Amino acid sequence: MRLTYEQSLQNFSETFHLSKDETSRGNDYIPGGFSRRTFGYGPHAVFVKSGEGQYIHTIEGKKLLDLNNNFSTNVIGHNHPLILKKINEVIPDGFSFGNPTYHELDLAKELCHRIDSVEKIKFFCSASEACLAAVRIARGYTGRKKIAKFEGGYHGFSDDLAISAHPNPDSFPGPASNPKSLPDSDGIPAFKTDHVVTLVQNNFVACEKIIRAHASDLACIIMELQSCAGGIVELEKSFVHKLGTLARELDIVLIFDETVTLRAAYGGLQSLYDTKPDLTVLGKMIGGGLPIGAVGGSGKIFDVLETNQVMVSGTHHGHPLAAAAGSACLEAMDHGAYDRLNSMARRIKSELNSWALKEGYPFTVFGSFSVLGYAFTKETNQQITTHRDYWHKIDDKSMKIYALEMATRGYFPVHRGQIGLTLPMTDDDISGYIDATKDIIRCIYSA
Ligand SMILES: Cc1ncc(COP(=O)(O)O)c(C=O)c1O
Repeated sequence: MRLTYEQSLQNFSETFHLSKDETSRGNDYIPGGFSRRTFGYGPHAVFVKSGEGQYIHTIEGKKLLDLNNNFSTNVIGHNHPLILKKINEVIPDGFSFGNPTYHELDLAKELCHRIDSVEKIKFFCSASEACLAAVRIARGYTGRKKIAKFEGGYHGFSDDLAISAHPNPDSFPGPASNPKSLPDSDGIPAFKTDHVVTLVQNNFVACEKIIRAHASDLACIIMELQSCAGGIVELEKSFVHKLGTLARELDIVLIFDETVTLRAAYGGLQSLYDTKPDLTVLGKMIGGGLPIGAVGGSGKIFDVLETNQVMVSGTHHGHPLAAAAGSACLEAMDHGAYDRLNSMARRIKSELNSWALKEGYPFTVFGSFSVLGYAFTKETNQQITTHRDYWHKIDDKSMKIYALEMATRGYFPVHRGQIGLTLPMTDDDISGYIDATKDIIRCIYSA
């Protein structure tokens, strides 16, 4: 029998009945019931009791393969022994000092060693903060005020950058080749959007026109090589190369936000492209599950921090626990770890895409590493190459049914169309995920 949205909702709320109750109880104290609103999964959140390796255990006692892993953060899984050991070593020494500790230095050294374009690095508490700092550095260095970013590019929730990350097709977004800059939230003043110009993924002709028109005011271009939170879109290598060349010509600071994409390769996703950024933003996995963000860079641009000409400072920056946990995570992320993660991703893409094509189902998996996008489309064999493809090509109802039903069956994806793989996942876990996906797709499209 065909699986309907109503049925998948009922299955979900029955399976996670205690989570439903907790969400309502939370409503008395926290707006919406819980702080991480992006975990508003269908009608309510799924409350977690514990995590172990590749799994989370919900408060109902259900074990789920964690394909969300805190939006890609926990790349080596939950409660990894290396991280636990490191944290337990640090805690007895105390963990809240303004004074520097060698934990910060160890993490800084490791990241500078791994990422070619990063000679020096400074830590923050989140990638939102780090993105803001990167923009301030670029503005301080160039003396210019405008920021160029992509439609569908998410760089944290700040007033400066929460612009056109998740634009609404109903809010007069302008032409596809020259998008308007739209605030992602109420409360962002109009003068903030006036300082942002919005670029189009994988369309160099459009980007060049927009960038040249604003060149004398543009401090930076901030971008992900594969966008994530705004919807997975891979940028083509030739497109990035041309953009990098243009940024150099016009003295615009090029910022790669590798908050998520660092998990693509030992030297970050940038190591697989032939364009180096001036600044790199990092976050998520470099804290081993604790709050962190970082900006790395080299040369004159980054030197503005040396002299305090650009001030970016905070109470918990360089926190020893996050830095130590991050070093432990990177220790586990050796070359073999990247190979394993990427090979699981290739398997999912190839098996599900060839099956969907053969069976004639309008479903596709895309992305270049262990954070993949998936989409139910209105027609078969569709590609997602720009943010607006999500508006025009996606079958929203099937997306919702799939995400709810996956969780009910023991697989926890990012419900907007993303899965993240983790190192402890086994071949059997991946087979189980592929089989469950095929089964749900058959149920969605059965007569
Ligand atoms: C590419 C990118 N940059 C920045 C951020 C903001 O990171 P945080 O949530 O640590 O502030 C995110 C969060 O998802 C992200 O995906």
